[in-house]
Amino acid sequence: MQINPYLFILPRTPGQIVWNYKDHTQHELDLDYSSRLAQLIHNPELYDNDNIIDTQLLNAGILTVSVINNPVWGWDELSKIYHIGTRNIPCEYIPDNIHEWARQYLEHCNEVLASSPPADDTAERPPGRRIALPAPSTLNDDSLSNALTRRKTCRSFTGSAVRLSDVGSLLYLTLGYLREREGDCDDSIAEGLDARRSSPSGGGLNACEGYLLIQNVEGLAPGVYAYHPTEHALSLINPSPDTALGNLLGGQHFINNLPLGLFITARFDRLWWKYPHSRAYRMAFVEAGHLSQTFQLAATALGMNTWLTGAFADDQVDTLLQLENATEQPLFFVGCGESDGQAMCQEMRDLLRETPA
Ligand SMILES: Cc1cc2nc3c(=O)[nH]c(=O)nc-3n(C[C@H](O)[C@H](O)[C@H](O)COP(=O)(O)O)c2cc1C
Repeated sequence: MQINPYLFILPRTPGQIVWNYKDHTQHELDLDYSSRLAQLIHNPELYDNDNIIDTQLLNAGILTVSVINNPVWGWDELSKIYHIGTRNIPCEYIPDNIHEWARQYLEHCNEVLASSPPADDTAERPPGRRIALPAPSTLNDDSLSNALTRRKTCRSFTGSAVRLSDVGSLLYLTLGYLREREGDCDDSIAEGLDARRSSPSGGGLNACEGYLLIQNVEGLAPGVYAYHPTEHALSLINPSPDTALGNLLGGQHFINNLPLGLFITARFDRLWWKYPHSRAYRMAFVEAGHLSQTFQLAATALGMNTWLTGAFADDQVDTLLQLENATEQPLFFVGCGESDGQAMCQEMRDLLRETPA
């Protein structure tokens, strides 16, 4: 007899919840069951076929007689729970053919649409003045292959101001709801879900949002702004943080003079609405990655260099972006500006030169 290795236990007074994160089953145990489980965890050999609790724990899969392979995992338990817990798309029934798929998907969409989508409160928040952004201009260099080959992570920025017109182009091309795609709607797109960006979006939900941190942009006061993709406008959320950017971004002080950066957040409630399984959490990051790469390619095509990070204290960023509840969370940061093109800051380069090989 052994304890199933794919379990975690949540304390929930007066009992405890035992989660099998591989099979997504959960069981609520009262004190008697919890105490017996604690004894069996201490010594699985105590298993007794005549003890009803033991047999129930076995039937629930909390105990098991099968030998379960526990593959090597180099990170901590939390990442393992997350990874295994979101493996395998939950499908009760895999459609056999395209007709079945169409019927099943439509049914799912209709079920989802039977409840209203989460309120679009970012559109209303904050209620203050909208700052219209310049319409996007033609990029300096329209060649995708040039942008792809020139994109580079730089860690040495000059701090020079960025033009507001470039900010307009950058945001429109990265996060804006494209006017060019307004007519491009097919019958399967539900009402209210027809806005399209240049990057793909999980379920067409546009769960990701963007918040600009402005340090040096011509014609725009430094501060933190929400981007409104429908209006292609900004609204001020907060003044600039009273600390250097490096302090917010994992101590990476080489970007203290970055003229502008974009925090990419995800509205988890939009994803929950359509995709109740925790696997959708993965999709939030994938979508943020698409947006980040688009931002970098657009900035490169506008003649700037780029930098990116996921290293920040979420609590600090939540406060900065005024994300008041856990339904919207920051996932990534990407910034741009004029740079000397160096991958490393001067201080690091000096250090490397001083250090004997
Ligand atoms: C998910 C992700 C996280 C990253 N985080 C950081 C970071 O915290 N700090 C940093 O200086 N660069 C970061 N980078 C940039 C990588 O170091 C960089 O992309 C890599 O060295 C390759 O260089 P290149 O982007 O110039 O091709 C990150 C890149 C990715 C994709």
